[in-house]
Amino acid sequence: EPMPEPIVLATPAEMSAWSRQALQAGKSIGFVPTMGALHAGHKSLMDRARKENDLLAVSIFVNPTQFGPGEDFERYPRSFEADAQLCAEADVDAIFQPTPQDMYAADARTFVEVGGLQDVLCGLSRPGHFRGVATVVAKLFAIVRPARAYFGRKDAQQLRIIEVLSRDLHLGVTIVPCEIVREPDGLALSSRNKYLSPAQRKQAVCLNQALAHAQKRVAAGEKDAMALIGKMAELIEQAAPDAEIDYVAIVDMQTLQDVAAVSGGCMAALAVKLGNTRLIDNMRL
Ligand code: PAF
Repeated sequence: EPMPEPIVLATPAEMSAWSRQALQAGKSIGFVPTMGALHAGHKSLMDRARKENDLLAVSIFVNPTQFGPGEDFERYPRSFEADAQLCAEADVDAIFQPTPQDMYAADARTFVEVGGLQDVLCGLSRPGHFRGVATVVAKLFAIVRPARAYFGRKDAQQLRIIEVLSRDLHLGVTIVPCEIVREPDGLALSSRNKYLSPAQRKQAVCLNQALAHAQKRVAAGEKDAMALIGKMAELIEQAAPDAEIDYVAIVDMQTLQDVAAVSGGCMAALAVKLGNTRLIDNMRL
């Protein structure tokens, strides 16, 4: 039997009205915020949210404030028809698809910063990125008013920042981390994988391979973070001559600070550029 099509809500006022009605009816809202270009990773978030809530809302909004000058805001893939199709298959109730003008008043003055966590790892090479993410997620939570929101672990720093944001601002949204979905060769799914040439796509598996190697060494007793980091960098440089390493790090998953010795609660995280495409991945150790 065909699923009912999701309702598409184009303005914050329409989305808020839908949520208000749902909450008045005593229904819980599960929320998956996205920038569209949906793939099986997003689908896994939707499937989990579908199971755990009465209603499921998905936002599709390429958020301008999280892109820096010279980044890929203009060319970020936009594919509303395919996205709406995937949402229908995931039994989504509401798609929120606002315009930048609706989300940001021309004289908007309020931005959200999550001190300390936003300036490390990806924040070092993408200044302002997490300020944009935290700001738009705070806005989306205020509009959608979900009980739970679902985020992939691939963006581990984003996930941690949003957990702290929701706690610190008492937003009352339970943040649900979801496992990374990978291609058969191990590459983590990302909308940006579309940018890779066939040669780059082959080399991109080096991110996952370096992380898996570190995980294996840790399982075998290695604790020295510098030794593990050195080996990961070496593996990437050998496997992918086109790779330009942004960072390879081993950090505490709560504080995102570097550790000298691996213990429970650490992850290896890395960012690598292949041509113009910046890929990230991570693994718990
Ligand atoms: O992970 C993303 O797709 C975006 O950063 C998010 C959380 C939708 C905010 O724009």
